[in-house]
Amino acid sequence: MSEPLVSRRSATAIAHPNIALAKYWGKREGGGNVPAVPSLSVTLAGMSTTTKVSFDATLVDDELVLNGVVQAPDARTKVRASQLLDRVRAAAGPELHTSRARIVSTNDFPTASGLASSASGFAALALASVRAAGLDWSAEQVADLARRSSASAARSVFGGFVELDGGPTSDGAARAVAGPKSLDLRVIVCVTTEAEKATSSTDGMGTTQANSPYYAAWVADAPESHSLMRAALLAGDFTRVGELAERSALAMHACAMAAGIVYVTGATLAALDEVRAMRASGLATYATIDAGPHLKCLVRASELAAARARLERVPGVLRLIEATPGDGARLVTPQGAPS
Ligand code: PMV
Repeated sequence: MSEPLVSRRSATAIAHPNIALAKYWGKREGGGNVPAVPSLSVTLAGMSTTTKVSFDATLVDDELVLNGVVQAPDARTKVRASQLLDRVRAAAGPELHTSRARIVSTNDFPTASGLASSASGFAALALASVRAAGLDWSAEQVADLARRSSASAARSVFGGFVELDGGPTSDGAARAVAGPKSLDLRVIVCVTTEAEKATSSTDGMGTTQANSPYYAAWVADAPESHSLMRAALLAGDFTRVGELAERSALAMHACAMAAGIVYVTGATLAALDEVRAMRASGLATYATIDAGPHLKCLVRASELAAARARLERVPGVLRLIEATPGDGARLVTPQGAPS
């Protein structure tokens, strides 16, 4: 994030997804896409989104090519990307106010299925478009921009362990809490489908806020969950981090399920069963689940191979992706070089 102010029309950024160890679910009232509760995540190396943004005055509309497929002008992701670009155009010099942009974005992992591709996608898009517009914004400003498109994307701007503020008086700021090497942690993603999920997290949260009888209890409990997680992380206590992460995920899903929003499938629950069976047999594994059917298993590096061997035999688990705590969003091209 220390690139010099350069006037460029094109920039390429890479960002990783993150998974929340202390989840957020629900939005604060008052706009700005600020979460209703604080959250704490880990940014994951091992999965990436690479996004190139090129401002081009000859284009009549923004264009989005996602994983090699040109998106329709009214496709939801394309519209969300254009809204982010509109904020960048408004802040950029007058020569960019009317210029459209071409976005070429590629994920090396399943898109829109609860693997946080919107987090890595909007973090990479925010950084690439800000730099392509020649804006010398700080990481905090890039995170603020990313959050307005996808709140969890603000966390992928930073590396390691990252918190995102939320709550009635919060401005939704994100910051790094601890570096990638501060906890002995590996994440095994149990991929249970390659398909896109049916209910976006935004829609799932909206329905939960409107209809879950447990939403108020979730909002009341989550800040303490977050601060306990922060303390466990800073103490380097893997066991406590794992226990709190599993509890946070189950509380979030229980709250959503009570409103009819079900992201887990039989395969997710089979993997959860296996995580708990491993734990009962002395292998320290914990589970977390986001707005999709994949289960993420938290494990220490020394027990990674043993946990992998057991998870790959779970019926319905198609493949495993291994991830380590990783770096924040960054430009791909060398400083000052054309991208
Ligand atoms: O900000 P969104 O729309 O990517 O929603 C993220 C929701 C969860 O992944 C389930 C929780 C979280 O804190 O990341």
